[in-house]
Amino acid sequence: MNVLLIGAPGVGKGTISRYLISNYGLDHISTGDILREAVVNKTELGLKVKEYMDKGALVSDEIIIGIIRERLSKCKSSNGYIFDGFPRTNTQAIAFESILKELNLKIDVVLVLDVEDDIVIKRITGRRTCPKCNTIYNIYYSSPKTQNVCDKCGCELFTRNDDNLESLKKRLSEYHTNADSLIHYYDELKLVKHIDASKTREEEYVLLVKILEGLK
Ligand code: AP5
Repeated sequence: MNVLLIGAPGVGKGTISRYLISNYGLDHISTGDILREAVVNKTELGLKVKEYMDKGALVSDEIIIGIIRERLSKCKSSNGYIFDGFPRTNTQAIAFESILKELNLKIDVVLVLDVEDDIVIKRITGRRTCPKCNTIYNIYYSSPKTQNVCDKCGCELFTRNDDNLESLKKRLSEYHTNADSLIHYYDELKLVKHIDASKTREEEYVLLVKILEGLK
């Protein structure tokens, strides 16, 4: 099963991905995570994209499409993929279609996570992430047992460079510029299912499972 997640910054794409990894054994492809790793490792790609990411601007379609092509051709997933944060533009969606065809893959469902902007502001400003195991916490909704320390591996949690109000404003504006036509693109292919992402995580998982079970 191949699942594509569309939603505003901070809506919970990463959180839902972790649920899908644990419960459905899907392989997670997050363009944001791949880019952040490149920035941390100061690779050529990382140096190229850091400025865009810190500002909350989109990285070029060309770079993103190249990353996905490389990632998908490297290793095959036996249970399927979660595409988290890709595609974000219609250009990316069209290029993705041909990559999928080349690799004989297809998307089974496009989950659109709907939420109001004021909710994501609190989710983003409260987010803390583990640099080692990537567990996502939130100081308002799901804090770790010890402040700023990962429950699972004991590492100090970090706040992302782009998790500030200025970057978030830009990320939200990029999202609202592209989302309608991207969702329309997948609506035409009859792949879209909406999830009310203003609910608690547990309530969302129930909605999610209902959708995925309905695909079988
Ligand atoms: P990316 O890393 O994809 O960031 P994003 O889209 O802004 O999304 P986030 O990762 O911030 O949020 P999320 O939806 O995963 O939320 P999370 O689950 O963490 O991209 C970063 C940057 O990379 C982009 O700005 C761009 O520069 C570049 N980029 C990436 N892909 C690109 C592409 N395709 N094209 C061009 N550029 C690209 O949850 C957030 C918080 O809320 C957490 O604390 C979590 O615990 C909490 N939470 C989640 N769900 C709930 C709930 N139901 N109730 C309460 N709290 C909740």
